[in-house]
Amino acid sequence: MIDIHAHYDDEKFDVDREVLLTSLFNEHGVKSIVNAGCNIESSLFSISLAEKYENVYAAVGFHPQEVDMFSEESFEQIKKMLSHPKVVAIGEIGLDYHYGTDDKEQQKEMFRKQLQLAVDTNMPVIIHERDCVADCLEIVFDYDVRGVFHAFSGSKETAKLLLDRGWYISFTGTVTFKNAKFPVENAAYVPEDRILTETDAPYLTAHPFRGKRNDSSYMKYTIEKIAEIRNTTFEHIERVTEENAKRLFGI
Ligand code: NI
Repeated sequence: MIDIHAHYDDEKFDVDREVLLTSLFNEHGVKSIVNAGCNIESSLFSISLAEKYENVYAAVGFHPQEVDMFSEESFEQIKKMLSHPKVVAIGEIGLDYHYGTDDKEQQKEMFRKQLQLAVDTNMPVIIHERDCVADCLEIVFDYDVRGVFHAFSGSKETAKLLLDRGWYISFTGTVTFKNAKFPVENAAYVPEDRILTETDAPYLTAHPFRGKRNDSSYMKYTIEKIAEIRNTTFEHIERVTEENAKRLFGI
């Protein structure tokens, strides 16, 4: 299985990062991981993990909640990072109105700059969208980019708009939650050549480990659930999601 979105730079992994990553690859059937950056520091950390582990790849970029730290200088730094051979995407980028909309205009401007960078460099993007779907789609559809909506929590109607334009949809542990509605509907609806799986570790751990620190080994519950919803096997979903990740990120 391939985890297309995780944060192993998070301090929650400081105690056992090396042991954990090694065991994920050697004992838990994890083939590759894309570690997503949120600012300069975590983007550089993602690159250092990618340099250390053959099966870790990096995404670099500015998360909407990090907009205060964004500057011309940091944008130039992100640009430079894109030439690293193990940087496979720009992300995670997007909009987030969950904690308020005071910085909405700055978020939008930063998002547009990073999308334009993706167009200019032909890199795929990893999109974060929270409580702002209309604004997010309006901006995204202005750019001829490919990529994935990570931890997608939108409706089937929104999924359709994205699928029609070639986007991939990524599922986390939330599809296994007892109260899951949209992720379950989408797990049945999204064509198999557009499904990706991720953990967003250390967050969003699948049932029955919800609330615990997440890592890529728990992705098996997400794959299992998607297989159950689609009335197919774990192996089938594992295979198609791996193929999709390889196609999108060139890994
Ligand atoms: Ni994330």
